[in-house]
Amino acid sequence: MRILITGGTGFIGKALVKALEGEHQLTLLTRSAGKAHLTLGNQHKLLGNLSALANLDGFDAVINLAGEPIADKRWSLEVKQKICDSRWDTTARLAKLFEASKTPPKVFISGSAIGIYGDHDKQVHLDESFDLAHFKDTGKEEKFPHSVCAKWEELALQCQGLTRVCVMRIGLVLGLNGGALKKMLLPFKLGAGGVVGSGKQGMSWIHREDLIAIILFLLNNEQCQGIYNATAPNPVSNREFTNSLGTALSRPTLLPMPAPILSLALGEMSQLLLEGQYVYPDRLTQAGFSFHYTHLDDALTNLFGASKS
Ligand SMILES: NC(=O)c1ccc[n+]([C@@H]2O[C@H](COP(=O)([O-])OP(=O)(O)OC[C@H]3O[C@@H](n4cnc5c(N)ncnc54)[C@H](OP(=O)(O)O)[C@@H]3O)[C@@H](O)[C@H]2O)c1
Repeated sequence: MRILITGGTGFIGKALVKALEGEHQLTLLTRSAGKAHLTLGNQHKLLGNLSALANLDGFDAVINLAGEPIADKRWSLEVKQKICDSRWDTTARLAKLFEASKTPPKVFISGSAIGIYGDHDKQVHLDESFDLAHFKDTGKEEKFPHSVCAKWEELALQCQGLTRVCVMRIGLVLGLNGGALKKMLLPFKLGAGGVVGSGKQGMSWIHREDLIAIILFLLNNEQCQGIYNATAPNPVSNREFTNSLGTALSRPTLLPMPAPILSLALGEMSQLLLEGQYVYPDRLTQAGFSFHYTHLDDALTNLFGASKS
C-alpha cells in the first residue's frame, strides 16, 4: 500500500513506521526532514506541507497522528491554540484533499484521545457507545481535552462517505524512550514516585505494541469503521498504576503527590493527572482484535523486566 502518515516521527509514529516499512511505501508529513532522516532513515518520501498536494489520488491509506504535545508545557492560551491548530488544521486539510480526490484512499485512520470522555469514576463503563452529550445533561464543564478531541474527531468523520474512517481514542501509551512513562520514570527511579491526588482516578493504558497492532488491524479489516477505544481491556486506578510501576522498577512508592501542589505546579494541565476515566475497547474486541498485553503488570514486565535488578 502507498500510505501517507502524519506524526510519523513521534513516539507512536516511529514504531508505526518500523512496523509498516518494508511491506508498504510510506510518505511522511514532517516539519523537519532532518529529524525524520535521523530517526527513521532515508528510505521514506517526506512531505513538508500538505499544501504541496492537490489531492490524495496517489495514496491507498492515510494515518493521521500529528499534533503538538499536550503535556509538555503549561496550558497558556498560546499553547492551547497550538495544541488545537496542529490537530484541527492537519485534519481539515486532509479532509479537503479527500474531497478533491478522484480515487480517494480506501481508509483514513485518525487519532483522538480518551480525554474526550472527561472525568469519571470507576462505576462508569466508558465504551464507544457512551453519550458524549453528558456534559450538557449533567451541567459538567467541558474540559480542554474534550474540546480538542471532539473537533478533531468531527473533522475526520467528515470524510465518511468518501472513505472508510476509523478514529482511535488512544489511551496512555506505554513504551520505552518516550510518552508518559518517560516523564514518570525519573521520580520513580529516584524513589520519589507516589500516588497522585486521591489515587482513585482511572488510568486507561495501552502497550505501544498493541496500539501499533490496532492500527494494522484497522488498516486491513475493511469491515472496521467509526470510533474505536484504543486502550487495554483492564484499566487501573492511579494507585494500582503507581504500585505496579514501583514493583516493576523495584522502587518505593511512598511519596504521594497532593492535588493542591500539583494544581499549583501545573495549573489547568494538572487535570491530566488528577482526573481520569476507565475506558474499555469493546468495539475492537467485538471486531476480533486480540490484545497481547491485557494486564498492566505484564506490560510493565515486558518493558522493564530486563532492567529490574
Ligand atoms: N502518546 C500517548 O500516550 C497518546 C495518548 C493519546 C493520544 N495521543 C495522540 O496520538 C498522536 C501521536 O502521539 P505521540 O505520542 O506519538 O506524539 P508525539 O511524539 O508528540 O509526536 C507527534 C508528532 O506530531 C508532529 N507535531 C508536533 N507538533 C506539531 C505542530 N505544532 N504542528 C504539526 N505537527 C506537529 C511531530 O512531527 P514533526 O516534528 O515531524 O512535524 C511529531 O512527531 C498525538 O496526536 C497525540 O495527541 C497520544
